[in-house]
Amino acid sequence: MRIAAAIATLLIGCAMFAQPANAEGDLERGKRLSYTCLGCHGIDGYRNAYPSYRVPKLGGQPAAYIVAAVQGYRDGLREHPTMQAQAHSLSDQDLEDIAAYMATLGTATVEAGGSEGIDLEIAQTCVACHGRNGISVAPTWPTLAGQHEDYLIHSLNQYRNGERTHAVMVQMAAALTDEDVKILARYYASLKGLETTEPEEE
Ligand code: HEC
Ligand code: HEC
Repeated sequence: MRIAAAIATLLIGCAMFAQPANAEGDLERGKRLSYTCLGCHGIDGYRNAYPSYRVPKLGGQPAAYIVAAVQGYRDGLREHPTMQAQAHSLSDQDLEDIAAYMATLGTATVEAGGSEGIDLEIAQTCVACHGRNGISVAPTWPTLAGQHEDYLIHSLNQYRNGERTHAVMVQMAAALTDEDVKILARYYASLKGLETTEPEEE
């Protein structure tokens, strides 16, 4: 029941604060500003050093989620020294432009999400937000399909150990065992969705 209530609250919140996915950003400017970002996010297999896990894929991630995530680092809700430093140097407009550009580099779209039919039992509760086949159903929520397995494990464990504090996800992750985390991460990583945003040739 508590989870259902949390979902309802989030759905209402999303309807109120959701921003149009690509409407606000200037793609040309975003492309220029993304150059630094793609030095990590655009290189296949690039890893964070301590702890070691692959840098998350951003291609096809909804623009509004990219904006929210970077603001999370900037506002200290998410800890990661490099991303916090990156975030501090960006204005809101810079960020809108970067996110709009990055979102165009993948083929996964919110429209492809849906809440029916997923074939993994423990993923049934995830479907409401992360969608059938792991494609997010709202622009402010992350797509999981195709994300690196080790990054998914890392992020679920961050909700479990309090390093990430998003209220709904903390509740979701608290219900999972180590084994569940591994199974879910392997499952979502195996689905088609996010892509590494490689820098385009000039
Ligand atoms: C030095 C490498 C590096 C650079 C440069 C970098 N990032 Fe990151 N980024 C990371 C790592 C590592 C993470 C995962 C951090 C964590 O565990 O929270 C991350 C996380 C993110 C996330 C969260 C992804 C998610 O699925 O929640 C977003 C969004 C993001 N970066 C956007 C950017 C943008 C925009 C820029 C350029 C302004 C940028 N990054 C520059 C390494 C980098
Ligand atoms: C009520 C909606 C909702 C449900 C249900 C839900 N999530 Fe989430 N999930 C979110 C939101 C919103 C975020 C972004 C939170 C943040 O900013 O940290 C998120 C973030 C995540 C992330 C981090 C993604 C990234 O790119 O950093 C993972 C992994 C994840 N969820 C997995 C799951 C799994 C597995 C389940 C089912 C057990 C689940 N979620 C259920 C809304 C939901």
